[in-house]
Amino acid sequence: MQVRNCQTLKEPKRTYKRNGGQIMTYDLNITFDDNLVTGNKTIDTQHKELIDRIQNFVIACQNGDSKVKAIKLLDYLNEYTDFHFKEEEALQEKAGYPEREKHYEKHEEFKKTIQELYEYLQEYEGPTDRFSELVQKNVIDWLFGHIKTYDRSVAKFIFMKQNPDRC
Ligand SMILES: [Fe+2]
Repeated sequence: MQVRNCQTLKEPKRTYKRNGGQIMTYDLNITFDDNLVTGNKTIDTQHKELIDRIQNFVIACQNGDSKVKAIKLLDYLNEYTDFHFKEEEALQEKAGYPEREKHYEKHEEFKKTIQELYEYLQEYEGPTDRFSELVQKNVIDWLFGHIKTYDRSVAKFIFMKQNPDRC
């Protein structure tokens, strides 16, 4: 079964050739760049992988790849999200980060979003306008905002703890 209506993700901004045919892509900015660096190597490396997996999932939808493939890519994303959050939470625990309970609650929000994505993929023929809004707001905007605030704060705390003479 094909995942349809991915074209509704956003207005097309560019096109590219794939398998000899012209496929539309959309300018959803799902790339790791310097604005997302927290300064903690472990966290930053994992964020790159997480964002790659989000990108692969969204591109599969944009390209109208099969529903089976979309679900498989969402499985990969889900699996890595769990791994990353556990790692990040362990870092906070180990460092005695005082705001960690609030941070863990935020992670739960994102896990709920992933479950919503599963529901969309299972209940519908493919992504709809609501799906594109969900990806933009609850995945991209949420994650990038979380990294720039919550995760950066953790990275700073760990750095200060490990380098008291440099602060
Ligand atoms: Fe986090």
